[in-house]
Amino acid sequence: MSESPVVPHHIAIVMDGNGRWAKRRFLPRLAGHKQGVDSLRRCARACAQRGVAVLTVFAFSSENWNRPADEVFGLMELLAMALAREVPELKKDGVRLYFVGDRAGLSPKVQAGLAQAEAATAGNDRLILNVCFNYGGRWDIAQAAASLAARGEPITEASLQGAMGLAHVSDPDLVIRTGGEMRISNFLLWQAAYSEFIFSDRLWPDFDESALDEAIAAYSGRERRFGKTSEQILSAHPQSMPG
Ligand code: IPE
Ligand code: IPE
Ligand code: MG
Repeated sequence: MSESPVVPHHIAIVMDGNGRWAKRRFLPRLAGHKQGVDSLRRCARACAQRGVAVLTVFAFSSENWNRPADEVFGLMELLAMALAREVPELKKDGVRLYFVGDRAGLSPKVQAGLAQAEAATAGNDRLILNVCFNYGGRWDIAQAAASLAARGEPITEASLQGAMGLAHVSDPDLVIRTGGEMRISNFLLWQAAYSEFIFSDRLWPDFDESALDEAIAAYSGRERRFGKTSEQILSAHPQSMPG
């Protein structure tokens, strides 16, 4: 392909496979999660370099509380550590951080860390990085509806969209899931209505720049029809005609 690929404005990723990455190396699962943080740093940098405007990642689901207590505790500690270590770098790289999810379920220490990280990067605009933590798509739809009801506002598609955790960005153009599973696991149920999906067999710690480029190239070759016919799409954008 000689033409440069169409870079998605917003990429969302289910960062799956950390546990298996560690298990294959006879390491504790937490070692895989630590490697996952490194992979996220690399991925965020690569996205910014390629002109992606928004990266949204699934870091801890509403259901991940059901894991063994030591893994859950380790993940909370890792989040606190990653905030302390990564925020100065992210700030320098022009990344603006948002945390999306049910904060009330997190410890006061973690909640304060999230608020500080958001405030420290609020002036940045090179890449928006949304970290979904203690997040579930069902939780998000329910909390949005509850907040509209509490304000006595009508529930419409537009008002719900505006009350959800990702109201500050457009819907993801591309959703990538690493780790080989082909399911959504309660991620972006509302926002992924017309996203393109790519499932990669790579485990998240192994998802590098070349894997990202492959995903972007595959996305670039897709025809997004949004319910229309192929002919309608081609007559609106004749330059995307194949050949
Ligand atoms: C994803 O990796 C990270 C979290 C869900 C926190 P996993 O921990 O689910 O890794 P696998 O799927 O067990 O390999
Ligand atoms: C999805 O991965 C959640 C995150 C990556 C944070 P899981 O490993 O929790 O998903 P399931 O349980 O395999 O569906
Ligand atoms: Mg998993």
